[in-house]
Amino acid sequence: MRKLESLFRKNRAWAKKEKEKKPELFTELSKQQTPNYLWIGCSDSRILANRIVDLPAGEIFVHRNIANVVVHTDLNSLSVIQYAVEVLKVKHIIVCGHYGCGGIEAAMEDKDHGLIDNWLRHIKDVRRFHAGKLAEISDYTEKLNQLCELNVIEQVRNVCNTTIVQNAWKQGYQLDVHGWVYDMRDGILTDLDSCISSNEQLQERNKKHEEGYDRRQYQAKN
Ligand code: CO
Repeated sequence: MRKLESLFRKNRAWAKKEKEKKPELFTELSKQQTPNYLWIGCSDSRILANRIVDLPAGEIFVHRNIANVVVHTDLNSLSVIQYAVEVLKVKHIIVCGHYGCGGIEAAMEDKDHGLIDNWLRHIKDVRRFHAGKLAEISDYTEKLNQLCELNVIEQVRNVCNTTIVQNAWKQGYQLDVHGWVYDMRDGILTDLDSCISSNEQLQERNKKHEEGYDRRQYQAKN
């Protein structure tokens, strides 16, 4: 049987270093977690929520999957959202996509990728909803970037439409759902200006959705 010795060595060294920096760290963390944020991001190995926003352990509750998708029948993401909102009482849910996402690229292609195509189907639906706008963009990378942003905005809406967030708002609980995108080329996050904090805002956003989101308009404004 083979063991990944190098990783265990690194783990011991890391734990020692952390304890030297803050002797009470592990004792405190083992008692409870009180994160203010739920992060829903891509599984991509280059994107680490805590590191990107420079927050220590215990501050962000994290859910990751391929291309940061929130599906209404996915018990995994729904359970994470429920626990984050109802038990941990987070105040912010962040859906964070990223440019250069392999899931987005695969959803844009019409190739066979096997099982994963069933998951990418949800992004292909986003592509279909906005087919007109996407067709107007000739540059392929720009097209992918637009789909990446559209996917984030769609997933923000999916989070808002869960029974969990709906019930939280009905009970007057303050909860903001944000849409962000991360650029791996410079490590910079951008807020897609798609934060939703109430049912009224969600209705307004739905109206805007019918009119269509335009990445170029958004860029011109910012
Ligand atoms: Co990705």
